[in-house]
Amino acid sequence: MPSLIIGPSMSWLDDALINNIRQDAPELQIIKAQYKEFPDGESYIRLPVEALDPDETVILQTLSPPQDRSFIQLLQIIDAALNLGADKIAVFTPYMAYARQDKVFLKGEPISIRLLLTSIYAAGARFLFTIDIHNPDSLSLFPGKSYNLMPMHLAIKPLVGERSNKDIMIIAPDKGALQRAKMTAEAFGFEYDYLDKQRDRITGEVIIDDRGISVKNRTVVIIDDIISTGGTIALATKKLYAKGARDVYVACSHALLVGDSYVKIKSSGVKEIFSLNTLPPKPGVTYIDAITWSVKRILESL
Ligand code: R5P
Repeated sequence: MPSLIIGPSMSWLDDALINNIRQDAPELQIIKAQYKEFPDGESYIRLPVEALDPDETVILQTLSPPQDRSFIQLLQIIDAALNLGADKIAVFTPYMAYARQDKVFLKGEPISIRLLLTSIYAAGARFLFTIDIHNPDSLSLFPGKSYNLMPMHLAIKPLVGERSNKDIMIIAPDKGALQRAKMTAEAFGFEYDYLDKQRDRITGEVIIDDRGISVKNRTVVIIDDIISTGGTIALATKKLYAKGARDVYVACSHALLVGDSYVKIKSSGVKEIFSLNTLPPKPGVTYIDAITWSVKRILESL
Protein backbone atom coordinates (compact mmCIF):
# COMPACT_ATOMS: atom_id res chain seq x y z
CA MET A 1 0.00 0.00 0.00
CA PRO A 2 1.51 3.38 -0.98
CA SER A 3 1.96 5.94 1.80
CA LEU A 4 1.93 9.72 1.94
CA ILE A 5 3.82 11.24 4.85
CA ILE A 6 2.85 14.82 5.64
CA GLY A 7 5.81 16.66 7.14
CA PRO A 8 5.72 19.43 9.77
CA SER A 9 6.12 22.23 7.22
CA MET A 10 2.79 21.13 5.68
CA SER A 11 0.86 20.99 8.97
CA TRP A 12 -1.39 23.83 7.69
CA LEU A 13 -3.00 21.51 5.11
CA ASP A 14 -6.65 21.34 6.14
CA ASP A 15 -8.91 18.28 6.38
CA ALA A 16 -10.84 19.28 3.24
CA LEU A 17 -7.66 19.20 1.20
CA ILE A 18 -6.49 15.93 2.74
CA ASN A 19 -9.91 14.45 1.94
CA ASN A 20 -9.52 15.55 -1.69
CA ILE A 21 -6.21 13.67 -1.84
CA ARG A 22 -7.93 10.62 -0.28
CA GLN A 23 -10.73 10.73 -2.83
CA ASP A 24 -8.22 10.64 -5.69
CA ALA A 25 -6.27 7.78 -4.08
CA PRO A 26 -8.43 5.79 -1.63
CA GLU A 27 -5.70 3.16 -1.18
CA LEU A 28 -3.20 5.75 0.10
CA GLN A 29 -2.09 5.52 3.74
CA ILE A 30 -1.78 9.11 4.98
CA ILE A 31 0.56 9.63 7.92
CA LYS A 32 1.17 12.92 9.71
CA ALA A 33 4.72 13.16 11.05
CA GLN A 34 4.95 14.07 14.74
CA TYR A 35 7.50 16.69 15.59
CA LYS A 36 8.81 18.89 18.36
CA GLU A 37 11.75 21.12 19.02
CA PHE A 38 14.18 20.25 21.80
CA PRO A 39 15.04 23.03 24.27
CA ASP A 40 18.42 23.50 22.53
CA GLY A 41 16.71 24.05 19.13
CA GLU A 42 17.23 20.61 17.56
CA SER A 43 14.33 19.01 15.63
CA TYR A 44 12.68 15.74 16.68
CA ILE A 45 10.61 13.68 14.23
CA ARG A 46 8.58 10.51 14.65
CA LEU A 47 6.37 8.64 12.19
CA PRO A 48 3.53 7.11 14.25
CA VAL A 49 3.23 3.75 12.43
CA GLU A 50 4.59 0.24 13.06
CA ALA A 51 6.00 -0.26 9.57
CA LEU A 52 5.93 1.11 6.03
CA ASP A 53 5.25 -0.92 2.93
CA PRO A 54 8.31 -1.08 0.66
CA ASP A 55 5.93 0.19 -2.07
CA GLU A 56 5.90 3.89 -2.85
CA THR A 57 6.35 6.29 0.06
CA VAL A 58 5.82 9.95 -0.83
CA ILE A 59 7.16 12.50 1.65
CA LEU A 60 5.39 15.85 1.40
CA GLN A 61 7.47 18.55 3.04
CA THR A 62 7.77 22.05 1.61
CA LEU A 63 11.01 23.91 2.29
CA SER A 64 9.32 26.96 3.79
CA PRO A 65 11.03 29.42 6.13
CA PRO A 66 12.90 28.66 8.28
CA GLN A 67 14.25 26.74 5.31
CA ASP A 68 17.17 25.15 7.14
CA ARG A 69 14.83 23.62 9.75
CA SER A 70 12.39 22.39 7.09
CA PHE A 71 15.28 20.78 5.24
CA ILE A 72 16.68 18.94 8.29
CA GLN A 73 13.16 17.69 9.09
CA LEU A 74 12.90 16.37 5.53
CA LEU A 75 16.15 14.42 5.89
CA GLN A 76 14.96 13.09 9.27
CA ILE A 77 11.68 11.88 7.72
CA ILE A 78 13.54 10.09 4.91
CA ASP A 79 15.71 8.32 7.46
CA ALA A 80 12.75 7.45 9.69
CA ALA A 81 10.89 6.05 6.65
CA LEU A 82 13.87 3.86 5.72
CA ASN A 83 14.03 2.58 9.31
CA LEU A 84 10.35 1.57 9.04
CA GLY A 85 10.93 -0.48 5.88
CA ALA A 86 10.24 2.04 3.10
CA ASP A 87 12.23 1.37 -0.04
CA LYS A 88 10.91 3.39 -2.97
CA ILE A 89 10.99 6.88 -1.47
CA ALA A 90 9.83 9.96 -3.35
CA VAL A 91 10.23 13.44 -1.92
CA PHE A 92 7.70 16.12 -2.84
CA THR A 93 8.86 19.63 -1.92
CA PRO A 94 6.21 22.02 -3.33
CA TYR A 95 8.65 24.89 -2.71
CA MET A 96 12.32 24.11 -3.28
CA ALA A 97 14.39 26.46 -1.16
CA TYR A 98 17.87 27.68 -2.13
CA ALA A 99 16.98 27.24 -5.82
CA ARG A 100 18.07 30.78 -6.64
CA GLN A 101 21.67 30.03 -5.61
CA ASP A 102 22.12 27.73 -8.59
CA LYS A 103 25.53 28.98 -9.63
CA VAL A 104 28.55 30.83 -8.34
CA PHE A 105 27.55 34.44 -9.01
CA LEU A 106 30.43 35.93 -7.02
CA LYS A 107 33.70 34.10 -6.46
CA GLY A 108 33.71 32.19 -3.16
CA GLU A 109 30.00 31.26 -3.14
CA PRO A 110 28.56 27.70 -2.88
CA ILE A 111 26.05 26.18 -5.31
CA SER A 112 23.48 25.75 -2.55
CA ILE A 113 20.83 23.96 -4.61
CA ARG A 114 23.36 21.24 -5.52
CA LEU A 115 23.97 20.58 -1.82
CA LEU A 116 20.26 20.22 -1.14
CA LEU A 117 19.59 17.92 -4.07
CA THR A 118 22.56 15.62 -3.44
CA SER A 119 21.75 15.46 0.29
CA ILE A 120 18.15 14.39 -0.42
CA TYR A 121 19.50 11.58 -2.61
CA ALA A 122 22.22 10.63 -0.11
CA ALA A 123 19.57 10.39 2.63
CA GLY A 124 17.77 7.72 0.59
CA ALA A 125 15.18 9.34 -1.71
CA ARG A 126 15.42 8.20 -5.33
CA PHE A 127 12.60 10.35 -6.75
CA LEU A 128 12.11 14.07 -6.36
CA PHE A 129 9.07 16.15 -7.28
CA THR A 130 8.83 19.89 -6.91
CA ILE A 131 6.63 22.69 -8.22
CA ASP A 132 8.04 25.35 -10.53
CA ILE A 133 11.66 25.30 -9.38
CA HIS A 134 13.45 28.58 -10.06
CA ASN A 135 15.71 27.05 -12.72
CA PRO A 136 14.50 23.65 -14.00
CA ASP A 137 18.04 22.85 -15.21
CA SER A 138 19.14 22.59 -11.56
CA LEU A 139 17.21 19.35 -11.24
CA SER A 140 19.87 17.63 -13.36
CA LEU A 141 22.01 17.88 -10.20
CA PHE A 142 19.72 15.37 -8.43
CA PRO A 143 21.28 11.93 -8.97
CA GLY A 144 17.86 10.17 -9.04
CA LYS A 145 14.75 10.85 -11.11
CA SER A 146 13.33 14.35 -10.81
CA TYR A 147 10.18 16.11 -12.00
CA ASN A 148 9.31 19.82 -12.14
CA LEU A 149 5.51 20.10 -11.92
CA MET A 150 3.99 23.19 -13.57
CA PRO A 151 0.42 23.89 -12.39
CA MET A 152 0.63 27.68 -12.93
CA HIS A 153 -2.41 27.57 -15.23
CA LEU A 154 -4.46 26.71 -12.11
CA ALA A 155 -3.39 29.99 -10.46
CA ILE A 156 -4.95 32.25 -13.09
CA LYS A 157 -8.12 30.21 -13.57
CA PRO A 158 -10.13 32.40 -11.15
CA LEU A 159 -9.45 35.41 -13.42
CA VAL A 160 -10.34 33.68 -16.64
CA GLY A 161 -13.99 33.68 -17.60
CA GLU A 162 -14.56 37.09 -16.13
CA ARG A 163 -12.70 38.62 -19.03
CA SER A 164 -12.29 38.06 -22.75
CA ASN A 165 -9.08 36.63 -24.14
CA LYS A 166 -8.32 39.88 -25.93
CA ASP A 167 -8.37 41.76 -22.65
CA ILE A 168 -5.87 39.72 -20.60
CA MET A 169 -2.15 39.94 -21.21
CA ILE A 170 0.40 37.82 -19.34
CA ILE A 171 3.67 39.51 -18.45
CA ALA A 172 6.89 37.94 -17.18
CA PRO A 173 8.87 40.33 -14.97
CA ASP A 174 12.14 39.21 -16.58
CA LYS A 175 13.33 37.14 -19.50
CA GLY A 176 14.09 34.18 -17.22
CA ALA A 177 10.39 34.01 -16.36
CA LEU A 178 9.26 34.12 -19.99
CA GLN A 179 8.89 30.36 -20.50
CA ARG A 180 6.50 30.13 -17.53
CA ALA A 181 4.47 33.10 -18.82
CA LYS A 182 4.36 31.65 -22.33
CA MET A 183 3.20 28.24 -21.09
CA THR A 184 0.46 29.81 -18.95
CA ALA A 185 -0.68 32.24 -21.65
CA GLU A 186 -0.83 29.50 -24.27
CA ALA A 187 -3.05 27.36 -22.03
CA PHE A 188 -5.75 30.04 -22.43
CA GLY A 189 -4.81 31.65 -25.75
CA PHE A 190 -3.68 34.91 -24.10
CA GLU A 191 -1.01 37.27 -25.42
CA TYR A 192 2.24 37.43 -23.46
CA ASP A 193 5.43 39.48 -23.25
CA TYR A 194 8.23 40.21 -20.79
CA LEU A 195 10.00 43.05 -19.03
CA ASP A 196 13.73 43.38 -18.66
CA LYS A 197 14.96 43.09 -15.06
CA GLN A 198 18.48 43.58 -13.78
CA ARG A 199 19.43 42.95 -10.14
CA ASP A 200 22.61 44.26 -8.53
CA ARG A 201 24.18 41.13 -7.03
CA ILE A 202 25.71 43.08 -4.14
CA THR A 203 23.07 45.65 -3.15
CA GLY A 204 20.07 43.59 -4.36
CA GLU A 205 18.68 46.71 -6.09
CA VAL A 206 16.31 45.91 -8.97
CA ILE A 207 15.97 47.93 -12.20
CA ILE A 208 13.16 47.18 -14.69
CA ASP A 209 12.96 48.31 -18.30
CA ASP A 210 9.55 48.06 -20.03
CA ARG A 211 11.14 47.30 -23.46
CA GLY A 212 8.47 49.48 -25.04
CA ILE A 213 5.77 46.80 -24.70
CA SER A 214 2.17 47.82 -25.30
CA VAL A 215 -0.32 47.15 -22.47
CA LYS A 216 -2.65 50.14 -22.92
CA ASN A 217 -6.14 49.48 -21.48
CA ARG A 218 -5.27 45.83 -20.90
CA THR A 219 -5.80 43.65 -17.84
CA VAL A 220 -2.29 42.50 -17.07
CA VAL A 221 -1.32 39.44 -15.05
CA ILE A 222 2.31 39.39 -13.94
CA ILE A 223 3.47 35.82 -13.50
CA ASP A 224 6.54 34.92 -11.46
CA ASP A 225 7.85 31.89 -9.63
CA ILE A 226 8.66 33.49 -6.27
CA ILE A 227 7.50 36.66 -4.55
CA SER A 228 9.93 37.34 -1.74
CA THR A 229 10.44 41.02 -0.83
CA GLY A 230 7.87 42.09 -3.44
CA GLY A 231 10.40 44.50 -4.96
CA THR A 232 10.19 42.93 -8.43
CA ILE A 233 6.37 42.90 -8.51
CA ALA A 234 5.95 46.42 -7.11
CA LEU A 235 8.38 47.89 -9.62
CA ALA A 236 6.94 45.93 -12.55
CA THR A 237 3.40 47.00 -11.59
CA LYS A 238 4.34 50.68 -11.51
CA LYS A 239 5.96 50.34 -14.96
CA LEU A 240 2.85 48.64 -16.37
CA TYR A 241 0.45 51.28 -15.01
CA ALA A 242 2.77 53.94 -16.42
CA LYS A 243 2.37 52.22 -19.81
CA GLY A 244 -1.43 52.48 -19.55
CA ALA A 245 -2.45 49.08 -18.11
CA ARG A 246 -6.01 49.20 -16.77
CA ASP A 247 -5.65 46.61 -14.00
CA VAL A 248 -2.64 44.66 -12.78
CA TYR A 249 -2.98 41.25 -11.10
CA VAL A 250 -0.21 38.96 -9.90
CA ALA A 251 0.06 35.17 -9.95
CA CYS A 252 2.95 33.24 -8.48
CA SER A 253 3.87 29.71 -7.55
CA HIS A 254 5.53 30.57 -4.24
CA ALA A 255 4.28 33.44 -2.09
CA LEU A 256 7.10 33.82 0.42
CA LEU A 257 5.99 37.43 1.01
CA VAL A 258 8.61 38.42 3.58
CA GLY A 259 8.52 41.56 5.74
CA ASP A 260 6.38 44.41 4.37
CA SER A 261 6.15 42.90 0.87
CA TYR A 262 2.34 42.63 0.92
CA VAL A 263 1.91 46.32 1.69
CA LYS A 264 4.55 47.21 -0.91
CA ILE A 265 2.74 45.20 -3.59
CA LYS A 266 -0.73 46.48 -2.75
CA SER A 267 0.56 50.09 -2.62
CA SER A 268 1.89 49.70 -6.16
CA GLY A 269 -1.72 49.10 -7.29
CA VAL A 270 -1.92 45.30 -7.65
CA LYS A 271 -5.62 44.32 -7.55
CA GLU A 272 -5.17 40.78 -6.27
CA ILE A 273 -2.38 38.29 -5.57
CA PHE A 274 -3.02 34.69 -6.65
CA SER A 275 -0.68 31.94 -5.49
CA LEU A 276 -0.42 28.18 -5.61
CA ASN A 277 -0.55 26.69 -2.10
CA THR A 278 3.10 25.64 -1.95
CA LEU A 279 3.88 27.57 1.26
CA PRO A 280 2.04 28.31 4.53
CA PRO A 281 -0.86 30.72 3.86
CA LYS A 282 -0.44 34.48 4.26
CA PRO A 283 -3.31 36.93 4.75
CA GLY A 284 -4.57 38.79 1.68
CA VAL A 285 -3.48 36.15 -0.84
CA THR A 286 -5.94 34.09 -2.93
CA TYR A 287 -4.65 30.50 -2.86
CA ILE A 288 -5.29 27.86 -5.47
CA ASP A 289 -4.77 24.22 -4.57
CA ALA A 290 -1.90 22.65 -6.48
CA ILE A 291 -1.15 19.94 -3.89
CA THR A 292 -4.04 17.60 -4.76
CA TRP A 293 -3.28 18.04 -8.47
CA SER A 294 0.40 17.25 -7.86
CA VAL A 295 -0.07 14.22 -5.57
CA LYS A 296 -2.32 12.65 -8.22
CA ARG A 297 0.38 13.10 -10.86
CA ILE A 298 3.13 11.87 -8.53
CA LEU A 299 1.28 8.63 -7.77
CA GLU A 300 0.69 8.11 -11.50
CA SER A 301 4.40 8.67 -12.26
CA LEU A 302 5.86 6.31 -9.64
C1 R5P B 1 14.11 35.96 -9.46
O1 R5P B 1 14.72 35.80 -10.50
C2 R5P B 1 12.79 35.34 -9.17
O2 R5P B 1 12.25 34.76 -10.30
C3 R5P B 1 11.83 36.35 -8.57
O3 R5P B 1 11.53 37.35 -9.53
C4 R5P B 1 12.43 37.01 -7.37
O4 R5P B 1 12.88 36.02 -6.48
C5 R5P B 1 11.45 37.91 -6.67
O5 R5P B 1 12.07 38.44 -5.56
P1 R5P B 1 11.55 39.76 -4.88
O6 R5P B 1 10.11 39.57 -4.55
O7 R5P B 1 12.42 39.89 -3.65
O8 R5P B 1 11.78 40.89 -5.83
